[in-house]
Order: sequence, then structure tokens, then C-alpha cells
Amino acid sequence: MILKGRIFHFVDDGRKENPENSFEYFEMGGLVVSGKKIVDIGDFNKIIAKYSDHDVIDHKNNLIFPGFIDLHNHFPQVQVISSYGTQLLEWLNKYTFPEEAKFISEDYSKQQAKKFLKLLITNGTTTSVSFCSVHKESVNALFQEASKKNMCMIAGKVMMDRNAPKNLLDTPQSSYEDSQALISKWHKKNRNFYAITPRFAITSSPEQLKLAGKLVENNPSCYIQTHLSENRDEIEYTMSLYPNYRHYLDIYLQNGIVNNRSLLGHSIHLSGDEISIFEQSKAVAVHCPTSNLFLGSGLFPLKELNNSNVRLGISTDVGGGTSYSMLNNLDAAYKIQQFRNFSLNPKFSFYWATLGNAKSLGLENQIGSFKKGTFADIVVLDSLSNMVSKIRMETCESLDEELFVLQTLGGVQSIKSVYIAGNSFL
Ligand code: GUN
Ligand code: ZN
Repeated sequence: MILKGRIFHFVDDGRKENPENSFEYFEMGGLVVSGKKIVDIGDFNKIIAKYSDHDVIDHKNNLIFPGFIDLHNHFPQVQVISSYGTQLLEWLNKYTFPEEAKFISEDYSKQQAKKFLKLLITNGTTTSVSFCSVHKESVNALFQEASKKNMCMIAGKVMMDRNAPKNLLDTPQSSYEDSQALISKWHKKNRNFYAITPRFAITSSPEQLKLAGKLVENNPSCYIQTHLSENRDEIEYTMSLYPNYRHYLDIYLQNGIVNNRSLLGHSIHLSGDEISIFEQSKAVAVHCPTSNLFLGSGLFPLKELNNSNVRLGISTDVGGGTSYSMLNNLDAAYKIQQFRNFSLNPKFSFYWATLGNAKSLGLENQIGSFKKGTFADIVVLDSLSNMVSKIRMETCESLDEELFVLQTLGGVQSIKSVYIAGNSFL
């Protein structure tokens, strides 16, 4: 098939400075999809001449863009989003842990997995990096549902053996064995990848972190995801549990879980030495903007990290985050940087949520752009989806202005169609 419309995507041309300036835009474009993959892109008239036997799906004046990539969220927190009145540690104990305990049930896990994927897709997200609960049932449910949709899913069971209710604890040995069994079952099956997932240093004993490092050593192609330096009280508590380490990141580093496949959620309150470790290890600092505002965690040091060449990701962190929409999270990221006297460029934002996140996963040959041979994971965006946007668009004169309107005034209602591996889901 050929998707017709205004086509926009970022191009991986190896340019390091201003990656947001490496893009292609076709005012009347044609995107050729064959089976699961993108096979061609160009001006519609040229494309239709070349592929005259193909069906055309006309998306009119809407923007055809690569599906969004959410680099950090929590699948068992569909019922935790919008929980009132707490910051991180109290929020975990009061709302999050009791809800996650329910995922011991295979049925409950399946029900919530279906809802979770529906929410992601309705919001235009076609790749997700997700924390599951401590139970292997939750991991099986999420990968099963993602596989049915041929969606790219990166996920893992949280390893947590202390400082949480008893019914949510594993042991160092059981967490090692369960994770290894789940890796054998799911890693690189369909479009799934496994992420080794020690929840954070507070809920892992030194023995468990050491075994997480052993999992990493034995499974070098898996991702690693955890939380780092989200909240001041969290950092203080962490350092009291690990007094012999230089700083929070050192705990993970010394235990062998920091490398170029590590996705470190939040990464807000960092020392200069921690930033250097990020730079050297090529680990990814994953920004969680709506969550940082909602839980009052802090203001992500985007400019400092970018200037230091730290690899960056952006995500929703649902249920700490308050929206499944990457557009809404880009909007929050913009507002957070306004507090830091830095105005995030809309092209950078849209780059970040697609090709930028794809590169942070090392998956830029599979997702994040319309490069030939990548998966046909596509979102169709309507910049006129509500009255405010529609009126504001009357005076928009550039693509940059339109992107900024989509980010600031748009959201779930901006998503008109979604394709995953060439199949239409919305
Ligand atoms: N730190 C450890 N667990 C969590 C979680 O579930 N959400 C957030 N935002 N931070 C965490
Ligand atoms: Zn998180």
C-alpha cells in the first residue's frame, strides 16, 4: 500500500550537531509499505508512477510520522496513574506496591496488559520500554499481548528483594532464575527484547544487585533498566543503604549494570562525576517529564547532559507520569526546561521521541524513521484536532510552528491512525 499525505521524519545521516536539522518533509508525499516494512518514500507523483498497482490510503492534510517510542513506563500502573498527594517513596508504598501485588494473577495481568497496549496505541506509541511487576505472570502477559500485535516491546520483571511488602519480594536467587527463564522465553522472539530490571537500589540487596550484574554478563544483548536519582529523599535513603559507594550511579556501576544498553530512568540530581560516567559508559539518561512534575521530583538538567554528550531518552513513566501521550510529555519537557532558562526546540522534541529514542536503543535500523527496511510503525497526526489548535493553526506559517502547536495543544485527540508493522490499529 501507499500512504499519501504530508510525510515527515528524521534521517539518520550521522550528523552529531543539531540532529533535529536532519529531516525529510514531503508536502504531498507517498510512503510505500510492503508487508511489515517501509520500502520507499518520496513525492507522491513519483511514487505512484513507480508503484501504480498499489492501493492508496489518503491521509489528506494530516502528518504521517514514525510511531512514538516510549523509553520508560510501568505496565502494572494502569490503575496507579492519577493517585493524589504524595512524593516518590510514599507514593510507592501507598499506591503502587498494593496495585502491583495484584499481578500475581495471570488473569489480572492479561486484562491489564490489553488495556495498557490499547492506551499506548491510541496515543500513537508503537514501541514501549516497560517495567513489569515482580511476578513472571506479568511479563508473560505483556509479551504475549505485544506479540499478537507484532509490536516492538522491551520489558522485564522487576527484581526486588527488600523494602517493599512481603508479597512483592523475590530473593536474589529466585530473581536471577526467573529473569534468566524469561530471557530464554522472550528475548529476541517476535519483536520482543528483554530488559534486566532491578527496580532501584532501595529495593535490591547488595546480593541481588550483584546477581543482576551476572545476568548482564551472561546476556550481553539484553537491555538493562532501572531508576536513578529521581528524588532527594530517595537519594539520601539509597546512600544510607550503600554507604561505601561514591554516589548513586557508582552503586550500579560497581555491580556491572551500567553500559551502553542501560536505560536509567529520571537521572535528575547528578554530580559531575556521575555525568562523566554516563559519558564514558554510553548509558542513557531517560527523562520522565510529566512524572517529575506530578511527583515533584525535580527539573531534568537537559542542557548540561546534552552538552556533555550524554545519550538521552524521553518517556511517559506512567503511572508516575500523568499521560500516555508522548506529545503531552514533550509539552511537559518544554515547560520544565523553561524553568531552567532553556527553550527546547520543537524539532528536537519530535526527533527525540522517534529517531533519538531509537538510537538510544541501538534500534535505528528497525524503528524511529522511514528509512527503507525499517518496520512500518507509523502515526498519523492531525494538527487541527481541537478548537484551540484549529484556530491557532490559522496563523501558523512553518512546520516548526505546527509541531509546537501539536505538542502544546494536542494530545490523544491528535492521533488519527496508527500502523504497527504495516497493520492498521486505529
Ligand atoms: N522508583 C522505583 N520504582 C519506581 C516507580 O514505579 N516509579 C517511579 N517513578 N520511580 C520509581
Ligand atoms: Zn519509572
